[in-house]
Amino acid sequence: MKDVLTIAMPKGRIFEDAADLLREAGFQLPPEFDDSRKLIIDVPEESFRFILAKPMDVPTYVEHGVADLGIAGKDVMLEEERVVYELLDLKISACYLAVAGLPNTKMNNIAPKIATKYPNVAEAYFREQGEQVEIIKLNGSIELAPMIGLADRIVDIVSTGRTLKENGLVEYERIVDITSRLIVNPASFRLKEERVNELVERLVKKLQSNEGL
Ligand code: PRP
Repeated sequence: MKDVLTIAMPKGRIFEDAADLLREAGFQLPPEFDDSRKLIIDVPEESFRFILAKPMDVPTYVEHGVADLGIAGKDVMLEEERVVYELLDLKISACYLAVAGLPNTKMNNIAPKIATKYPNVAEAYFREQGEQVEIIKLNGSIELAPMIGLADRIVDIVSTGRTLKENGLVEYERIVDITSRLIVNPASFRLKEERVNELVERLVKKLQSNEGL
C-alpha cells in the first residue's frame, strides 16, 4: 500500500494551470476535479488526496502538516513566511508584484498610504526603499483604492495588465516576478520521501520537456 499524499491546491487562478501540469506529468485526475464544489477530492488511483484551499492559506495547511504538499504562488510564500520547504518552481501562472497608482501623481510625503493584499511584502519593500508608509490591508479589488482616494499607491499582482489599464492606473515599480511553487511539510518530506520524490521527478521531467531540455 502506497502512502497517501495530501496536496493542498489553490482555488482560483492557479488551479487550472496546476491541474493541467499534474495531468501532463501523467497523473490521472478525475473530471470532477475541474468542476466541483467539493473541498476534499480523493483520487485513490494515484493515492492522492487533494484539499482545495484559498491560495493564501495553502502554506498554512502545509506548515501544520494537514497537507503534505501544496501549490502556492511565490507571492503567497513571501507574504506568509511559513516553515515549509520550497521544492520546485513549477513555472506556471507567471505574473509579478508591482507598485501602481494613478498616472502623474506623487506619493504623499508624510506617511503615504499603500493599499494591498500583501501587507508584509509591501511593508518590507518600502522599508528597503527607506520610505515610511501606512499600509491599508484589503482583500481584493485593490485597484479601487487609488481611484476613490483611499490610497496613494497599491501593491498588487499584475498578470496581463488589463485590470490596471481598464481602471486608468499605471505601474510605477516592479517588485518581484512570481510563479507557482511546489512546497512540502518538512516532516512529510522525510516520512514520505519516496512518494514525494516520485512526484517531484515526474514534474521535473515534464518541466524539462517544456523547456526543450
Ligand atoms: C488579481 C490582482 C489584480 C488582477 C491582475 O486579482 O489582484 O487585480 O488579478 O490581473 P491582470 O493584470 O491580468 O488584470 P483577482 O482577479 O485575483 O481578484 P481580487 O481583486 O479579488 O484580488
